[in-house]
Amino acid sequence: MVTQPPDEPYWMSTTPVTSYPPLGTGAGVDVDVAVVGGGIAGLSTAWELARAGRSVAVLEAGRIAEGVSGRTTAKVTALHGLVYARLRRTRGPDGARLYARSQQDAVEHVAEVARLLGVDCELERRAAYTYVTEAAGRGTVREEVNAAEQAGLEAAFTERTGLPFRVEAAVRLPGQAQFHPRKYLLALAEDVVARGGAVFEHSRVVRLHEGTPCRLGTENGAAVTARDVVVATHYPVFDRALLFSRLSPRRELVVTGAIPAAQDPGGMFVTEEGTRRSVRTAPLPDGRRLLIVTGESFAPGTADVAARFERLAAWARERFPALEPGVRWATQDNDSTDTVPLVGRFHPRARRTWVATGFGGWGMSGGVMAGTLLAELIDGRRPPWADLYDPRRLWSAVREAPAFLRHQTGVARHFLGDRLRAPGPDRVADIAPGTGAVVRVDGRHCAVYRDEHGTAHAVSARCTHLGCLVAFNAAERSWDCPCHGSRFATDGSVLQGPALRPLEERDAGE
Ligand SMILES: Cc1cc2nc3c(=O)[nH]c(=O)nc-3n(C[C@H](O)[C@H](O)[C@H](O)COP(=O)(O)OP(=O)(O)OC[C@H]3O[C@@H](n4cnc5c(N)ncnc54)[C@H](O)[C@@H]3O)c2cc1C
Ligand code: FES
Repeated sequence: MVTQPPDEPYWMSTTPVTSYPPLGTGAGVDVDVAVVGGGIAGLSTAWELARAGRSVAVLEAGRIAEGVSGRTTAKVTALHGLVYARLRRTRGPDGARLYARSQQDAVEHVAEVARLLGVDCELERRAAYTYVTEAAGRGTVREEVNAAEQAGLEAAFTERTGLPFRVEAAVRLPGQAQFHPRKYLLALAEDVVARGGAVFEHSRVVRLHEGTPCRLGTENGAAVTARDVVVATHYPVFDRALLFSRLSPRRELVVTGAIPAAQDPGGMFVTEEGTRRSVRTAPLPDGRRLLIVTGESFAPGTADVAARFERLAAWARERFPALEPGVRWATQDNDSTDTVPLVGRFHPRARRTWVATGFGGWGMSGGVMAGTLLAELIDGRRPPWADLYDPRRLWSAVREAPAFLRHQTGVARHFLGDRLRAPGPDRVADIAPGTGAVVRVDGRHCAVYRDEHGTAHAVSARCTHLGCLVAFNAAERSWDCPCHGSRFATDGSVLQGPALRPLEERDAGE
C-alpha cells in the first residue's frame, strides 16, 4: 500500500522559514560557548548565555526549531503525567520538590522571556490535567495529587475536566501555559544574534575534541573553538558517557483539525493509559480552535505507523465529532531510565562539555529549565536542582535496572537482526512501488526502497550509529533505527541523530 507522507507541522506552516548562513568550508569561529543543536534546549541555553554577556555560536545541522521542538505539542507545564509519585519513590520527597520547583520556574520563565522579547507567541494560561478513564486508576490519581502537593505544587483532585467524555478522575494543576513553539524559538534566536551571538544553519557538527579550548569540526569542513561546548542535539551525538544505554527513544503521532471555539475543552490534558493520549488546542485566525491530539507512542522502527495514525485520528473524531480534517505529523523524544532529564556535565571527566537530553516528552519546560541550569553551571554557579539532573548521578541498580534491562534487551534484539524482522518481502523483486523492506542482497542486509516509478534504491540496513538494523516506516517513508532512534531518508541521508553519517549506498542488484 502506498501511503501519504505526513504533512508539514502546523507550527512550521505558520512561521517563516529561517535562513541563517552555514559556517562555510574553511571558516573558523572562536567563541566562549558553542551550542550544538538549535532546538528549545540549545536556543534557550544560547539565549541565557548571550544575555549574560558571553559570546555564543549555535551550530545547527538543519534549520533551527525544525527538530522535535518544531513538531511538539508545546504545553509548558510542571505536571508531567504521573511523575511526582514516581519521583517521591525513587528520588525521595526532596528530589520531587526540586523537580517541581525547577519545572514550575521554567513555566514562569517562558512567560517572562516572551514578555521581555515582546513576542506574541500565542502564550495562553491553562490548567494542566492528567486523567484516567478507568475506575482502577482513581487511586493512582489520588497518589499523584498527594505527591505533587507534597512537592509544592497547587495540585487538586477533580472529576470535572472540560473534556467531552467521561473521565474517572484527574490531577489538576492551574496556572500552566501553552504556546506556539516556533514563534517563541525564532524570537529567541533573533535576540541571540541581536546580542552579538551567531546562529549557523546547515552546519552539522561531526567532530568534538575536548580540551582548552574545545575544538569542533563541521561536516562541511569548518572549525570552531570554544571554551565550553553544549551538546543539545536531542539524542546526544559524541556519546562519551554512554548515555545511550540510559536513553530510549519514543516516537509519537500528532493529528490536528479545527473545532468550533465553543467546543474547546479549555485545558491541557494527558493520560498515560494505553498508548497515551494528549489534547490541547491553539488559536486559529478565524476564531476557531486547532485541536491537537497526540499519542500512539512506540519505539521507532517497530510499528505500522499508518495504522496508528488512523487509530489516533479515529479516537479524536469519536470524541470531537465536529473535528475537521487537518494536518498530521510525527516526532520522537527520549526517555531516561529514571524519568529525570540528563542536564549538566557531559561525562564524569568532562571539564568544559555539557549536555541536555532525556526530556521524556516534557522538553518544553525541560528545555527552558536546561537553558537556565546550563548557563548557571557554565558561569560557575550551582542551583539547588543541579544534582537532581546531573548526568553523572549514580545509577541506582535497584531503581533503574528494570528500565535499563528492558532497553538493553530491545537493543540486542535489533542488533542481532533479521531473525526477529517484521514479516515482509524477502527479495528486492517483491518490493512494491512506494514501499521498502530490509532484504539480503549478496549476503548483506540492504534497506531497499522502490519509488513510484519502480526504481529500487538500496542502502546498507546497518545504522551508522552502532550498527542496529533499520526498519522501513511506510507512513513517513524513512528508515528508522529502533535502538537509539536515528532516522534516515530513503537515499540514506541522516534525518535525525545520534547517527552522524548516512547509510552507505548499495547496489539493489536489479
Ligand atoms: C509528540 C510529542 C509531543 C510533545 N509535546 C510536548 C509538550 O506538550 N510539552 C513538553 O514539554 N514537551 C513535549 N514534547 C517533548 C519536547 O518536544 C522535546 O523534549 C523537546 O522539543 C526536545 O528539544 P531539544 O532541543 O532537545 O531537541 P530538538 O528540538 O530536536 O533540537 C535538537 C537539534 O539538534 C540538531 N542536531 C542534531 N544533531 C546535530 C549535529 N550533529 N550538529 C548540529 N546540530 C545537530 C537537530 O537538527 C535539532 O534541530 C513532545 C514530544 C513529542 C514527541
Ligand atoms: S541509533 Fe544507535 S544503532 Fe541506530
